[in-house]
Amino acid sequence: PASDDGEGPSAAFRVDAEGLQRQIDELASFSDSPAPSVTRVLYSDKDVQARRYIKGIMNQLGLAVREDAVGNIFGRWEGSEAELGAVGTGSHVDAIPFSGKYDGVVGVLGALEAISLLKRSGFQPKRSLEVIMFTSEEPTRFGISCLGSRLMAGIEELTQSLRNVVDNQNVSFLDAAESAGYKMDPEDLRSVFLNKDSYSAFVELHIEQGPILEKEGIPIGIVTAIAAPASITVEFEGNGGHAGAVLMPARNDAGLAAAELALAVEKHVLESGSIDTVGTVGILQLHPGAINSIPSKSHLEIDVRDIDEKRRNDVIEKVRRSATEISKNRGVVLSEFKIINQDPPALSGKSVVDAMEFAAKQLNLEYKKMISRAYHDSLFMARVSPMGMIFIPCYKGYSHKPKEYASPEDMSNGVKVLALTMAKLSLD
Ligand code: GLV
Ligand code: MN
Ligand code: MN
Ligand code: MN
Repeated sequence: PASDDGEGPSAAFRVDAEGLQRQIDELASFSDSPAPSVTRVLYSDKDVQARRYIKGIMNQLGLAVREDAVGNIFGRWEGSEAELGAVGTGSHVDAIPFSGKYDGVVGVLGALEAISLLKRSGFQPKRSLEVIMFTSEEPTRFGISCLGSRLMAGIEELTQSLRNVVDNQNVSFLDAAESAGYKMDPEDLRSVFLNKDSYSAFVELHIEQGPILEKEGIPIGIVTAIAAPASITVEFEGNGGHAGAVLMPARNDAGLAAAELALAVEKHVLESGSIDTVGTVGILQLHPGAINSIPSKSHLEIDVRDIDEKRRNDVIEKVRRSATEISKNRGVVLSEFKIINQDPPALSGKSVVDAMEFAAKQLNLEYKKMISRAYHDSLFMARVSPMGMIFIPCYKGYSHKPKEYASPEDMSNGVKVLALTMAKLSLD
């Protein structure tokens, strides 16, 4: 498939933008919060319905569908040289509480439309093409981000932590998986690991989740690197007590320790002096959570990211020191300071970047090379394959909120660039 002579894409290479939008809207209806928000948490009933929906489309497209032990879903279009490493694409359909319809979803449904487009235009792959729907890119339920792709990347420690983690209702990962139809023996977790030669390339289509493309009026972003994310959980414990009877000098308030640490996170992030350092306390819980009870326990979850790994790690060390200091000054116990993940950044592979640039040029679409400040399953696919990402603009850069939006035209451009990128990589 290629554009015709300078007049834009040929008629045969047309995205079914309406069909894609209809699928996005249908998938958004599998939600545990009211529209326009979307909430779809790992292994919930809605997640299971979404999985069924995606497998249905894969089957309709004639793809060979397979699921691994944790529910990563693969739809393969076998190439003429099926023994070669495949060209992979895909993203996630889980959605954090009260988020939008497009994060991840565009990279799954859009990839399936890209496959459909290639089929309609008569393309014959040499390397197989494969769409992957990754399990739990979002850390919502078990605190582990990119759970499916992290495991695919062969991280041994994760097979241990997955045996022990529980959600906030005390349901274990293994029980939750079983209730979604993925009954497994802990030994099976290693079967998710990918061989290093499974994929010759991996490319993910995603909304930018930032404002740059829209602001600059550029339809395509070609991602050259993904920033380094880290997450930390912290707990303070104090004596609690009656909000009226315990006088101020006698208190050791775990809630105030948490508040002070949240402000310290902001301070240490700003001290880095770089606009690329960001830190967020997105979860702050107080126990027992009553207006007339001094918090006896607090729980914080802290997200720190940077494109510079060392600078990110320096912030984490400062936060650790602050947590210790605050606990001393306030007479509370720092009962937990746990780094959940502290991932390095990832660079895109030259072969994939070249193919994405080739595709954008063929399609006469202006593009910009950029970094991804959000993380994606591509961060971990980069460990087993050359990786690349295609970004499309989204309204005001909104993401992780209900107003997230990408236009059908922008999605169509992204699907076309993805299709042509995969076609090119398939013939390499
Ligand atoms: C993924 O959703 C992220 O937080 O970057
Ligand atoms: Mn997300
Ligand atoms: Mn995403
Ligand atoms: Mn993400």
